[in-house]
Amino acid sequence: MRHLMTPLDLTVEELDSLMAVAEDIKKDPARYAHTCDGRILAALFYEPSTRTRLSFEAAMLRLGGRTMGFADATSSSAAKGESVADTIRVVSCFADIAAMRHFKEGAPMVAAQFSKIPVINAGDGGHQHPTQTLTDLMTIRSCKGRLGNMKIGMCGDLKFGRTVHSLIRALLRYDGISFVFISPNELKLPDYMIEELNNHPNVNYKELTKLEDAMPELDALYMTRVQRERFFNEEDYVRLKDYYILDSSKMELASKDMIVLHPLPRVNEISVEVDNDPRAKYFDQVNNGMYIRMALILMLLGIEA
Ligand code: CP
Repeated sequence: MRHLMTPLDLTVEELDSLMAVAEDIKKDPARYAHTCDGRILAALFYEPSTRTRLSFEAAMLRLGGRTMGFADATSSSAAKGESVADTIRVVSCFADIAAMRHFKEGAPMVAAQFSKIPVINAGDGGHQHPTQTLTDLMTIRSCKGRLGNMKIGMCGDLKFGRTVHSLIRALLRYDGISFVFISPNELKLPDYMIEELNNHPNVNYKELTKLEDAMPELDALYMTRVQRERFFNEEDYVRLKDYYILDSSKMELASKDMIVLHPLPRVNEISVEVDNDPRAKYFDQVNNGMYIRMALILMLLGIEA
């Protein structure tokens, strides 16, 4: 039995295979429509979500399976003090696979240790969000035709943004990757991520504060929201929340084939006028997210389509 806690739980070959299956499902969904008949996915969400929870549920439903779970910890026995370990022991009796989002870093890892069914980390605090990374990789590959030999800008809340941390980890395994990290000083990448980068001497990176300076050199720009829920005080959030706003005038500085990604939800960091720019790919990410989660469910349940 396998779990997915970080993108590094999958080899590069397995990532390739997952993306190939996801593309195949996208082309021919009818062929996969009954592959999970009789199976149940439990969506255990202790923290708010629109995309991740609904795309896991849509993924299982479109594979012929069913779903159950909670979208809010207050409606589960967590509100009475039940531990994650006990909850997953219970859910293991009812479901075949579980996706867990939790505000505490490492909670899905604890669940995996006590689980009798595969557990997928659907986002743990400011730590990791591996299925968002699968979505991001699939979108980059389908837009650019490759995952290596690319300069990627990551902009916004690089301190608390778990999608950034997961995507960096995944991309470090491809050749010719360089990063430009764009953030205010207070929201720079955490030290443990800088250490991981420094352990890959073949990977170039630089840290900037001005988005305009980075735009002309990028193949892809990954925008992120300032993570209000992880701030210790509202004053700091208010000061930093609109530090970066990507708009049409900044897009003019970028190359004609630079793609714009965002894990969503967005607040103000991408102006809606950018949505109609053909380089804006953030809603394509959402669509890919369902197909790659379908492929992941099949893999973790050991179902060959
Ligand atoms: N990208 C993402 O995790 O979105 P949700 O918080 O809506 O699941």
